[in-house]
Amino acid sequence: MALDEIAFRPRVLRDVARVNAAVELFGRSLRLPVMLAPVGALEIFDPEGAASVARGTGRFGAAHMLSSVSEPGLEKVAEAAPDALRIFQLYVRGDDAFVEDYVSRAIASRYTAFCLTVDTAHYSRRERDIAKRYVRESRLRSTGGEHQKALSWRTVKLIKDKFKIPLIIKGIATTEDAVIALDHGVDGIYVSNHGGRQLDHGRGAMHVLPEVAQAVKGRAKIIVDGGFCRGSDIVKALASGADLVGIGRLQCWALAAAGEAGIERMLELLEDEVIRTLGLLGVTSFAELDGSYLHPATATNAPSVFSAFPLVDIEPYRY
Ligand SMILES: Cc1cc2nc3c(=O)[nH]c(=O)nc-3n(C[C@H](O)[C@H](O)[C@H](O)COP(=O)(O)O)c2cc1C
Repeated sequence: MALDEIAFRPRVLRDVARVNAAVELFGRSLRLPVMLAPVGALEIFDPEGAASVARGTGRFGAAHMLSSVSEPGLEKVAEAAPDALRIFQLYVRGDDAFVEDYVSRAIASRYTAFCLTVDTAHYSRRERDIAKRYVRESRLRSTGGEHQKALSWRTVKLIKDKFKIPLIIKGIATTEDAVIALDHGVDGIYVSNHGGRQLDHGRGAMHVLPEVAQAVKGRAKIIVDGGFCRGSDIVKALASGADLVGIGRLQCWALAAAGEAGIERMLELLEDEVIRTLGLLGVTSFAELDGSYLHPATATNAPSVFSAFPLVDIEPYRY
């Protein structure tokens, strides 16, 4: 995995008695540079679906991106977590009026930003699902796929021209498209290969991130996702130029394990790991971090009997 091909270059003998993992995003303060990535059909994992995720995330103080194909929908999730940093993500399954309706509703429900996912022009052939005879119920009801296929920069321009809400494009995988997005005034570039669930043989998002960060040069916020499971992974992303890390599948496991409380606990564990990693690198905040703390290498984290990091959180070891 791309994340495992990066090792740390820690600095020592610096006062790291106080470490703070907080960051700022779109004028809001976040306790951790983490966003719960958009996941469709969260109601599979918890009866209250995305509302549980938004509540747990809001209580902790991280960001939440709601998928347009997750229940209970845009307005109800806003009511569940009115004060959270909420972003709405749309799959375009209708004409311009469809898009404009969603943007207007997101603004009315005080979402901080709006996101278009653009790496799903064609739905991939998901062979694990085929082998398991798994068909998501919502996909049987899904219509409007032709609009997603025909999507172009014209819709990005339409939203930027008509609305003031910050716009994020999710699924950027090249410098070329990052530059076109910047030319359109896009506020957030979301580097993602959809967790490898769309185009097979794409590059890992952590391989793409450095070139995008170099092209963006602070002109837009950069979000990245793909396999982030540990605080050390999050630190690697921010040192590579990301502003925010999306958490997809880990969110599903936390939600399935313990609902809203599971989401909050997942974020607490990530925060604990981030603070220890920053301290061990010799920095007290993300502002002090840059690429000099990373080294391309094979820093495998495969489980090993010699490892000091078992894969479970063992309570007596917390200190
Ligand atoms: C079950 C599932 C549903 C997803 N649904 C959406 C979605 O509705 N919209 C979207 O933009 N991305 C969706 N994604 C992609 C995630 O937002 C994310 O890009 C991807 O899972 C990589 O992050 P991860 O490795 O932390 O899971 C989904 C991913 C999963 C696993």
